[in-house]
Amino acid sequence: MSLKHEHHHHHKRGEWSSSLGFILAAAGSAVGLGNIWKFPGRAYRGGGGAFLLVYILIVVFIGSVAMLSEFAVGRNTNSNAVGAFNKLNPKWKIAGWLGIITGFIVSCYYIQVGGWVLNYIIAYVTEPSAVFADPLNYFYGVLGANGFPLMGAIVYPAIFIGICMFVLFKGVSGGIEKFNKIAMPGIVFLLLVLLVRSVTMPGAMEGVKYLLHVDFKTLTSGTILSALGQAFYSLSIGLAIMVTYGSYLKKEENIVKNVGYICFFDTMVAIVAGFMIIPAVFATGVDPGIGGGFAFASLAGVFHQMSGGAFFGALFYLLLLFAALTSEISLVEGTIAFISEEYHVNRKKTIIILGVVMFVIGVFYTLSQLYLPIKGVWFDLANGLQFPSFGDFLEFVTDRLLMPLGALLFCIFVGWVWRPENAIKEVEQDGAFTFKLAKLWSVMVKFVVPVAIFIVLVCGLVFGMSIS
Ligand code: PFF
Repeated sequence: MSLKHEHHHHHKRGEWSSSLGFILAAAGSAVGLGNIWKFPGRAYRGGGGAFLLVYILIVVFIGSVAMLSEFAVGRNTNSNAVGAFNKLNPKWKIAGWLGIITGFIVSCYYIQVGGWVLNYIIAYVTEPSAVFADPLNYFYGVLGANGFPLMGAIVYPAIFIGICMFVLFKGVSGGIEKFNKIAMPGIVFLLLVLLVRSVTMPGAMEGVKYLLHVDFKTLTSGTILSALGQAFYSLSIGLAIMVTYGSYLKKEENIVKNVGYICFFDTMVAIVAGFMIIPAVFATGVDPGIGGGFAFASLAGVFHQMSGGAFFGALFYLLLLFAALTSEISLVEGTIAFISEEYHVNRKKTIIILGVVMFVIGVFYTLSQLYLPIKGVWFDLANGLQFPSFGDFLEFVTDRLLMPLGALLFCIFVGWVWRPENAIKEVEQDGAFTFKLAKLWSVMVKFVVPVAIFIVLVCGLVFGMSIS
């Protein structure tokens, strides 16, 4: 590649315009359906306080280590996930591909859940009584129980991906960064409003106590594994998305500090979401047992009993929408960077093609829930791990297999192939910063994190875990 070409190539790439813009964008990727849709339920099933404690430890000692690795590789290579490995060691390109493929799959079904969220915003504004009358049936209706789910699978998801495509069209700093600068404060504001509404309900304190009560007897290996898987998913680690976001980072930015902010922010949002949802569930006596449908079906029971429930319901789904949009945008951006850079396709063309393809494939996620008869038992391992739908199966494969595998390969790559010294050099920028915990980080990325991920992978697959 000639110097001239490289120069040209460099100028075509986007760049975050500020530290805050990057932090908000990366936090926007991290804060998503995982924080608000999945975390509270897992914290509840994991026994409350002990789960929270384990989750925090995992984020601090494992998640942040992996995230820093991804940022360092991204910024060092100035490349998308596959391009980064091509530059550092092409033999490891497969790890980049794994991230891209996993991100693609997650991206497809995320569009659909984003569509359901939009559906619920509209429903709480226009027909809350229809949702309240029979929450579970309403949810099943969205999924196609009473005929083809035109709105739930097609119209709303199309609007959802349309918004993402619009933002992505405007580029890294003019689109992604700008959007996150509005959406992230919006998320914080909505979260706090809903938190206050929830904990001031009569009986809510029982839920607060449940989350604060640490009982180590509730700490089973299943709980720990659930916390570990949740942490990777929530921090957007293992898909090389953070490689792409890190590649738009200026050299004068302090990676270590930024990792700290992003991990802190993501974890705070998850915990606050727990304190928003669980107390309300306790106050209303709604059964929090439903896994995936929890945010849609069970919560209607909560909003039904809350004064101003329809209003707060609409706000809650608006919160989910913001969170889902900023995450989906990052998921698609990872693939956009890959295709436009590796195959030299114009960015806008890439966005249109990807948006349409992801949308079309994603439709089958919703259809597989109730409408299409591609249901059945997919696995039946020792513990009776079963999948009611093709969509759930896909979600399991990405969450429990491909994401941890991606993170595992990535850490082994950084720890043993690229080597920690190079990552540390990238972080320190020839003395511009000191990476005080460099020694500890090296040991973590070489030994502790790969072993921990390996355990999750094996246990998640062999011993079976609940799929929600
Ligand atoms: N972190 C997002 C969430 O918690 O919902 C999901 C996600 C987004 C995972 C982007 C991975 C990713 F690359």
